[in-house]
Amino acid sequence: MRVGVIGTGHVGLVTCATLASMGHEVVGTDSDEEKVRLLQGNMVPFHEPGLPELVSDGISSGRLRFTSDPAESLGDAKVVFICVGTPSKATGEANLVAVERAAQEVARHARQSTVVVEKSTVPAGTAQQVRRTLVRERRDATSGLEVASNPEFLREGSAVEDSLHPDRILVGAQAPWVFEVMRRLYEPLIRNGCRIIETDINTAELAKHACNAFLALKISYTNGLARICERAGADVVAVADIMGADPRIGRAFLDAGLGYGGSCFPKDLQAFDRLAARLGYDFALLREITRINDEALEATLEKVRDALWNLEGKRIALLGLSFKPGTDDVRFAPAVALARRLIDGGACVVGHDPQAMSNAKEEVAGLEVAADPYEAASGAHCLIVCTDWPEFRDLDLQRLSKAMAYPLMVDGRNIFRPAELESAGFSYYPTGRPAFS
Ligand code: UDX
Repeated sequence: MRVGVIGTGHVGLVTCATLASMGHEVVGTDSDEEKVRLLQGNMVPFHEPGLPELVSDGISSGRLRFTSDPAESLGDAKVVFICVGTPSKATGEANLVAVERAAQEVARHARQSTVVVEKSTVPAGTAQQVRRTLVRERRDATSGLEVASNPEFLREGSAVEDSLHPDRILVGAQAPWVFEVMRRLYEPLIRNGCRIIETDINTAELAKHACNAFLALKISYTNGLARICERAGADVVAVADIMGADPRIGRAFLDAGLGYGGSCFPKDLQAFDRLAARLGYDFALLREITRINDEALEATLEKVRDALWNLEGKRIALLGLSFKPGTDDVRFAPAVALARRLIDGGACVVGHDPQAMSNAKEEVAGLEVAADPYEAASGAHCLIVCTDWPEFRDLDLQRLSKAMAYPLMVDGRNIFRPAELESAGFSYYPTGRPAFS
């Protein structure tokens, strides 16, 4: 099937590459000509495991192309995916200008009987607006185009795997032929046993918000528990294990830490809250999730201040700068927010990250970076684990401790076993677990 994809960011590019790998003919388009040039030259502009290989396979098989000309991408497509960014406005609402522009492009270039799929995370009701735009632009009461919602549940760092082996495929649409086209599109995944859930458009759009907010709720619930555990002398990791042993709760997303970041949760929570308010419902719980998330960062900062006394004149090493392991994405990364606060407080901050150092340096004025964790720790008065990259778990703790000015660790992701830290001579401040100094 011929597929056009508007927007080649994280979601758009993964959509392009995975659909091409399923045998479809995909043409991705982006208004950023530099990005298109990179992609045409087989270069993926961000870190995502498995994606460069998939893009390269797609290009060499002839099934995947990139262009900055929307007509070329959309003119022949049976399905067009809208995968453009929906950043937050100052009010917290999602900014949907790029979605409107994408709909205008589709109206201009797509042929009749094309399915226009929203894949970007958008507030419920957006499909209605996309449909209106198509009708107005085409000056045709039916527009000849049908809108569908097919929200993406992929996680950065495992986006390719998530797209090729999804838990479920969600399609919201109205016309039976649209469901038929979407079933044909995802046939290889459905054949492999993936469940496809077909529903109306509003339900599909809302379900995406519901999933992200609930996952964020689990994290904030655990971070709230961490604050209580710290005061009660209990261990939040053990509490999470006990909770997770109940299949009604599940262990996933019960890891306490510096809080969630990334391009989805912080912005989706705000957009969902704004949407609820616009619909006349005060969903205060959503704001509480965000408040507890902000508090998780403050609690870490408080630990650093408590351990170090004054920040002025202190050298602080941050391990991990991306918002989570497996990505170079630093959008809303707790590590970035922490670095800014520590630098503002007078500390000298040096970070190390396997992938995100150049992005973090661009974001944080005054941030130094080090080629490896030991170099970052060298002469530091405190080391803070901000992101749980698996390689940090294998660090030589004796070597780390010897390199530091004070052997003091704030473990913002609880990646180490307290006994190991103790024998390496560290003062250890984990999250929601007993500290020792
Ligand atoms: C998320 C959703 O998981 C995905 O379904 C949706 O499509 C997009 O948003 P992503 O932002 O890539 O994906 O990352 P995710 O793995 O969900 O982690 C989000 C944040 O939560 C990270 O900052 C992570 O460190 C944090 N987190 C996650 C915790 O603090 N504790 C946990 O237990 C789990």
